[in-house]
Amino acid sequence: MSRDLERVKNLLKAHGKPPREVYFDLENSGWVPDEVLKAMLPYFNVKGYGHPSITNKPGWEALEALLEAQEYIASSIGANSSEIVFTHSGTEANNLAIIGASLANKTRGRKIVVSSIEHYSVMLPANELAEHGFRTIQIPVDKDGRIDTDVLSSLIDKETVLVSIQMVNHEIGTIQPLREAVEIIRDKNPNTVIHTDAIDAYTRIPINVEKIDVDLLSISSHKILGPKGAAALFVREGTKIKKIVYGALSTQKLWPGVENIPAIVGFHEAARIAIEGMNKYMSYVTTLRDSLINGILGSIDGAILNGPRGRDRVPDNVNISFLYVEGEALTVELSLRGIYVSSGSACTSRVLEPSHVLLAIGRKYEEAHGSILFKITRYHSFADIDYVLQQLPVAVERLRRLSPLISKKNTDN
Ligand SMILES: Cc1ncc(COP(=O)(O)O)c(C=O)c1O
Repeated sequence: MSRDLERVKNLLKAHGKPPREVYFDLENSGWVPDEVLKAMLPYFNVKGYGHPSITNKPGWEALEALLEAQEYIASSIGANSSEIVFTHSGTEANNLAIIGASLANKTRGRKIVVSSIEHYSVMLPANELAEHGFRTIQIPVDKDGRIDTDVLSSLIDKETVLVSIQMVNHEIGTIQPLREAVEIIRDKNPNTVIHTDAIDAYTRIPINVEKIDVDLLSISSHKILGPKGAAALFVREGTKIKKIVYGALSTQKLWPGVENIPAIVGFHEAARIAIEGMNKYMSYVTTLRDSLINGILGSIDGAILNGPRGRDRVPDNVNISFLYVEGEALTVELSLRGIYVSSGSACTSRVLEPSHVLLAIGRKYEEAHGSILFKITRYHSFADIDYVLQQLPVAVERLRRLSPLISKKNTDN
């Protein structure tokens, strides 16, 4: 047995099953509701288990499921079916957008502009393009994570080939002034390709690609209570984009390889449920979010909300830094109490680096390290929030008693 496997087995054995469990780590991934699972199950072994590009019955059933999902997802964002490309993850969709569009348009210029708080699946492919002579410039953000539109405007010129600005930030929930940003970009260079990573916006706020006028937009199934293994990139008709993965059989010209039909079916079902109930679900989730934020800030000293309040914050996001506490230690302490959350930059939380998003909004290193992220869903209840409000102050207090950071604070005083 490898050391890693042995370690994780020991961790799980020591952890046991807490009497109550509440999962809030939906930034990283999550469970699949029963109705979504039910829609997927037949596609494993009853129907549609063939290859959607092949002319036989199980292949046609797979193709039917794929086209239905494509049609629904397209209509949910105001696009045409032919403008939806399925990939297997949001990371792949973002890589395709950034690398594919930059390379396809490189004769127009070699400057890429991204916000300083993009997800790494946008940042890293953009940086990687340096090998092809591109340079990437970041747009700074204010203390709430909003991009500086004056700087954006100054960065757009005839060399700017691609701009990527998230619709909603994955860590601090900021809803960006995307429409305003797009107007600035179109005004200064109508040829610039505009991408938005809408992975944390989809099903939380309405999206219409015509209204926001972007060329490329990414969404991902497991971020909307769908299964892992499916995501999509909207590619506006006429946008020049180059393949970045090569292979044989596929219905998707831009992303070859067999499609994950059960996951695509789950993605479709998860999107349908969430979009049909969006107003109702999001007003409930907003109430839970605000009770959690107010409850934590009101009961724990040295707790700082990261990101904006109110309408500029996406309904499901709560991100709070706890001074004199190590975020990783707090996730473990909470896990033992059955509260599952993540710390710092969620997608990089196995690496003990402070989140680039929190540093970009001006948090100090220690504040960025002590942050905890909750993502709330329609499946959470007020009792779940109360449970967190009961356990969290005790957990924070316990860690602060043990913390060298707090001894330092006392000495400094
Ligand atoms: C904003 C954002 N972009 C991209 C991704 C990557 O998506 P995936 O996990 O589907 O690869 C995530 C994942 O958490 C995200 O939050």
